[in-house]
Amino acid sequence: MSEKQCNIEDIKKAADVLINAKHAIAFTGAGISTESGIPDFRGPQGLWKQYSPEIATIDYFLNHPKDFWLFYRMRMSTLFAAKPNRAHYAVAELERLGIIKAVITQNVDGLHQAAGSKNVIELHGTMKRAVCIACGRTYPMEVVIKKIDSGQIPPLCDECGGILKPDTVLFGEPVKDFERARELALMSDAVLVIGSSLSVYPAAYIPIFVKEMGGKVIIINMEPTELDYIADVIIQCKAGEAMTLLLREVKERLGIQQ
Ligand code: APR
Repeated sequence: MSEKQCNIEDIKKAADVLINAKHAIAFTGAGISTESGIPDFRGPQGLWKQYSPEIATIDYFLNHPKDFWLFYRMRMSTLFAAKPNRAHYAVAELERLGIIKAVITQNVDGLHQAAGSKNVIELHGTMKRAVCIACGRTYPMEVVIKKIDSGQIPPLCDECGGILKPDTVLFGEPVKDFERARELALMSDAVLVIGSSLSVYPAAYIPIFVKEMGGKVIIINMEPTELDYIADVIIQCKAGEAMTLLLREVKERLGIQQ
């Protein structure tokens, strides 16, 4: 697919929305991390084009913990090698400038925090640690990788021998911090959506809540999303480029030397 240029008029419209907002938030999906080398799920090279999403269900984990962990171990290599990209840094800078108050993310890669974002809600949990499904003890993922690579598959709890599970939300599990995310959305008058197909609920309710409260919705995504019909601004190009241009426009409006 040829790389589409970002439409500068749409970038300017988005900058005006953010500058005039009293309480803007960012909502991100896997598309913000593909430029860091982490595949998304439903894009042209998405994971769900190669594997069945069934592998990410709680039932599959409970019935096939070994195969589940073999899949996750493969994913871990890309996730742990990944570094934040221009889009993550631009989101962190917008928070530093007071333009956005928080990031609500569906991603489990920790790249927003690594880029300097402070107020981050990880609706789908994090790949940075694992939890024992029997006693609840948590382990840094580095420790779990060592267990796997020494042949302990599935990895087990040192305390009680229970099976460890990544602290990510699998299909069939409740998302994390949804009430806090919902409250944030309901008090926001603008949401900047970056890199999500907006096809998974309840996460995709976040931009809908902002819209229902009369707020503005900006969508930056390479492809059309399932919620384009509620967007006030649609920017269809790569997140790294779009966010770099958007940050420049916002800083210009703030009178910040660049
Ligand atoms: N710039 C802009 N958009 C991009 C880029 C990029 N560099 N790379 C990919 N995209 C777009 C894709 O076109 C796609 O529409 O990002 C979107 C990512 O959508 P999904 O792959 O569906 O990811 P996401 O919306 O985060 O999925 C939600 O589904 O499988 C579950 O738990 C998983 O959190 C995930 C949830």
